[in-house]
Amino acid sequence: MSQRQILVTSALPYANGPIHLGHLVEYIQTDIWVRFQKMRGHRVIYVCADDTHGTAIMLSARRNGISEEQWIDTINRQHQQDFAGFDIQFDQYGSTHSAENRQLCAQIWQQALSKQLIASRDVQQLYDPEQKTFLADRFVKGKCPKCGAPDQAGDNCDKCGHTYSAIELVDPVSTISGAAPEIRSAPHFFFQLEKCREIVENWIARPGTLQSETANYLRGHFLSDTLRDWDLSRTAPYFGFEIPDQPGHYWYVWFDAPVGYIATTWQWCQAHGESLNDWWRNPNAEIHHFIGKDIVYFHTLFWPAILHTAEYELPTRVHVHGFLTVNGRKMSKRDGTFIRGRKYLEHLQPAYLRYYYATKLGDNQDDLDLNVPEFVEKVNSDLVNKVVNLVARCAKFGAQTGLAAQYPDDEGRFAYAAAQSDAIAAAYDAGELSRAMRLIMELADRANQFVDQAQPWKLAKSPDQTERLRDVVTITLNLYRQLAIYLAPVLPTLQQQSAELLGAELQDWRMAQVPLLNQTIGTYSHFMQRLDIKDVEKMIEETKHENASAAATSDSGAVAPTATVDSDAALLAEPLAAECTIEDFAKVDLRVARIVSAEEVPEARKLLKLVVSLGGDQTRQVFAGIKAAYEPADLVGRLVVIVANLKPRQMKFGLSEGMVCAAGGGGTEVFLLSPDSGAVPGHRIH
Ligand code: MSP
Ligand code: ZN
Repeated sequence: MSQRQILVTSALPYANGPIHLGHLVEYIQTDIWVRFQKMRGHRVIYVCADDTHGTAIMLSARRNGISEEQWIDTINRQHQQDFAGFDIQFDQYGSTHSAENRQLCAQIWQQALSKQLIASRDVQQLYDPEQKTFLADRFVKGKCPKCGAPDQAGDNCDKCGHTYSAIELVDPVSTISGAAPEIRSAPHFFFQLEKCREIVENWIARPGTLQSETANYLRGHFLSDTLRDWDLSRTAPYFGFEIPDQPGHYWYVWFDAPVGYIATTWQWCQAHGESLNDWWRNPNAEIHHFIGKDIVYFHTLFWPAILHTAEYELPTRVHVHGFLTVNGRKMSKRDGTFIRGRKYLEHLQPAYLRYYYATKLGDNQDDLDLNVPEFVEKVNSDLVNKVVNLVARCAKFGAQTGLAAQYPDDEGRFAYAAAQSDAIAAAYDAGELSRAMRLIMELADRANQFVDQAQPWKLAKSPDQTERLRDVVTITLNLYRQLAIYLAPVLPTLQQQSAELLGAELQDWRMAQVPLLNQTIGTYSHFMQRLDIKDVEKMIEETKHENASAAATSDSGAVAPTATVDSDAALLAEPLAAECTIEDFAKVDLRVARIVSAEEVPEARKLLKLVVSLGGDQTRQVFAGIKAAYEPADLVGRLVVIVANLKPRQMKFGLSEGMVCAAGGGGTEVFLLSPDSGAVPGHRIH
């Protein structure tokens, strides 16, 4: 078998929210395929990156009061941690906001210009005068121009099905600010896809490029008509790369995102002394993209055209998968079925999900359902009962006897499983993971039948059976070892554990052909626990709860609520309050004040009574919940920030005429805010 050179990618996750179980379908699927190809001895690299540009990310950063760079750095760290938690192993993980990507985009753009594939014309668009940004279709709502249905998005009406342009909406409203948008005109740059029709059609017709359902979809929906020009630019403000020589104009995120595949490969090449052309301009190197069915258009029409324009090789194959549902329903933040990877890892082992997804995935775009009872059943009856129990039942004796020097007669069992190697490999290679899992579980059944008959636990009781016991152990552990090898792409942790127990690596697929002999066996300790449905239920309960509180603070479902971004940075930890306008904010009169006196309120556990001066003869009496954190005497004379126009409130202990501002996680930690020196009581905070 000759060595293949294979570049593999998964779609670049948006840097606008956490990795969830839907994403993981793709990254687990790809990682399994990559690990399999590596075990086969091929030269494989798996690259991915965060997709960091666009309006949504710009807005998320704004809402959190940080720069886009800070935002995407935080998310990038989280994404990489989440992936590592699921044993997803990239050779390189980058970001589309990289110097390499900017440079490649500029080169590709130059080539598109010189080949006269770019056209410029004015576009009328809705503009939010408050947020000072043009509005993508999903950020506007209004009445359908045809049937008048209210609350329709900027592209089509879900009541009458009419499609229109956002500027036709009646009484449009920006969902970002609530403002009435204006129509503004600006030049945009378009890629003339129709000019690349032949290239794209030939590529689609090439055997192996696409699953037939994907090819049919493209022919039916796009290629049957003139291919529309593709709007590749966005007008400032936009978080992305500014187009060279076009100040105020940026490449649309979907232009630079796939270029990120090349840029990340380039980073890997730089780190490993290899040449980029050897991977992207080498007809003998394979390029495989794994994507979800929602982004087929970008990867199969636009992307091959761009690659051709820039004189790169076109992808060998685009593997398209379907969408995850949970208990038969679409994942949704509102329904509480949006389970984050991180939440999963708090409760369950990654191996369970990797195996379960493998049993559900084929080389097709069918949606797959995470059905909780089925999940528990498959993990326990296959992984725990058939695979792990096989070794658990016999490892103890193995530690006593070791493996025999010669492989005993096993009535052809080992040879049978060795002969299944090609069929299993073919299934993996074709992306038919569920078929591969079925074939492996058949082998597990056979191995278990052997142990059930041979009953090593009985042999262990009679001293004159030690030799037979060693033979039984040798057979069982070798049958187990074959399973561990065949399952290794799916279960790398089990692969590792098994290698340690058996005292020999399991990293090569061909190792399943030759039994391991003459070997001492280590001590076995639990490889995998049974999956308890209660743990799954608990995870779902917690997710429901968290999503409910996140949804309550987000007025629009269109933007990923920042509250679902879990972060090690405290600034992102607490769900944000609902958006407010400058006008809303201006209603709150925040002032610098000096604490004049501070005393305990004996009847109240948490409160201190403060009198603060606002300058002049203005004072306020304020009750503040800071007793646990501050000594009254230390506070006198200190500058603080207060809400000066809060409606006075009669409390049991007296009138409270304002509020002192403090940071903190809501527990006993309280940090009073103070202005830098120079500020004086009465200064307003803007
Ligand atoms: N940023 C783009 C991809 C750019 S590739 C140059 C994007 N990002 S994403 O975060 O929304 O999705 C990343 C991948 O996860 C996509 O392939 C998408 O199809 C997949 N999935 C996201 N949600 C999914 C499910 N619920 N189920 C299965 N896959 C899903 O698209
Ligand atoms: Zn309508």
